[in-house]
Amino acid sequence: MAHSPNTDWSPESDAVQRDQRAAYDSMRERCPVAYSRMMGWTLFRNSDVRHVLHEHGTFSNRVSQHLSVPNGMDPPVHTAYRRIVEPYFDEAAMAAFEPTCRAIASDLAGQLHAQRDADFMQAFAQPFAVRIQCAFLGWPESFHEPLLQWTQRNLEATGAQDRDALAEIADTFRAYVFAMIERRREGSHGPDVTSRLMAEQVDGKPLTDEEIASILRNWTMGEVGTLAAALGILVHGVATDTDLQALLRDNPERIEDANEELLRLHCPLVTNRRRATAATDLHGRGIEAGDTLTLNWVAANRDPDAFEAAEQFRIDRDQSANLVWGAGIHVCPGAPLARLEMRVVMEELLAHSEDISLRPDTLPDLARYPGSGYATLPVHLR
Ligand code: HEM
Repeated sequence: MAHSPNTDWSPESDAVQRDQRAAYDSMRERCPVAYSRMMGWTLFRNSDVRHVLHEHGTFSNRVSQHLSVPNGMDPPVHTAYRRIVEPYFDEAAMAAFEPTCRAIASDLAGQLHAQRDADFMQAFAQPFAVRIQCAFLGWPESFHEPLLQWTQRNLEATGAQDRDALAEIADTFRAYVFAMIERRREGSHGPDVTSRLMAEQVDGKPLTDEEIASILRNWTMGEVGTLAAALGILVHGVATDTDLQALLRDNPERIEDANEELLRLHCPLVTNRRRATAATDLHGRGIEAGDTLTLNWVAANRDPDAFEAAEQFRIDRDQSANLVWGAGIHVCPGAPLARLEMRVVMEELLAHSEDISLRPDTLPDLARYPGSGYATLPVHLR
């Protein structure tokens, strides 16, 4: 049974939610290992997060009773499933997907430019994230709207810690995926990523429908929101820094470096969890077996002990301590896909405009946990 030490902070409080980055920066300096009822032990320092990521014997990914492939698994089971997942994001797969990605980005960039004034999150980031995900998996357009709604409800239910709502959202998603599996089994569908997954084996046995649904869930429900948040952060970055925008217009080959640094400064994913399997000590705080730990990526990526002048944007910075994609055995396998999508989006937005700026009359709204980035981002394109 996990123990309940005194509470050090309230992650759900308005003071934290108003500006998550400022609150987490302050916690990192004031109380780097902080207990709360909502999150258990939150770790804010880059070196502590890194330590936990690499000590996967002591800090397990089995944080929930529900099947989660491969996110909620530990070695050796994790290793077998992770081997299946990785090839879907290799160089050849990404090169084959780039033209589809560009067509969707170009279509939405054209529409955004025609509108001139728009909320970037609603007009571009969210529709792009669901369209691209469905295109990648081979899912129909009729799935765009339900996916958008489920992602939104999933974020809200996670924030409210509403277990019933989360279970219901997961059930609806699973039922839809089962229907898609069935259609492919009947042979009424061409080859795509979903049918390729259905042919995979672990230890000589085909994946179960539950496992396929879990893999697809971890590629969609969690990631659509993170990708949309990332796009908002990148566009805010170029809209508020005219020198950077000019540099990227003249040197599009610098877009990938700029993207990594902008996401370091404002991480689109706020946290992930671990469970301690043995008693241990972090900065004098006694962690007991069974305790939950929460890794705060936002604070870890802004840690002055890991990055010189951590609060400054430096396009040439060494990114080896950047944890935007995690590190160790659970490092994001979808990073090549997300990087491709972000690069192509920036290329297309810049190609479709002469200038991208924030609207002077309406301020952006920061997102609340578990969201990151911007809830609304009013932009003007010329
Ligand atoms: C900007 C977008 C994204 C960000 C910032 C991001 C970030 C991360 C991070 C930090 C982790 C490590 C979690 C941990 O250690 O607990 C992770 C894991 C993971 N990500 Fe991503 N991700 C993104 C997009 C994607 C995409 C597009 C996919 C797939 C289509 C994906 C699939 C996964 C999976 C399956 C894992 C679990 C891997 C494992 O446990 O071995 N991610 N991601």
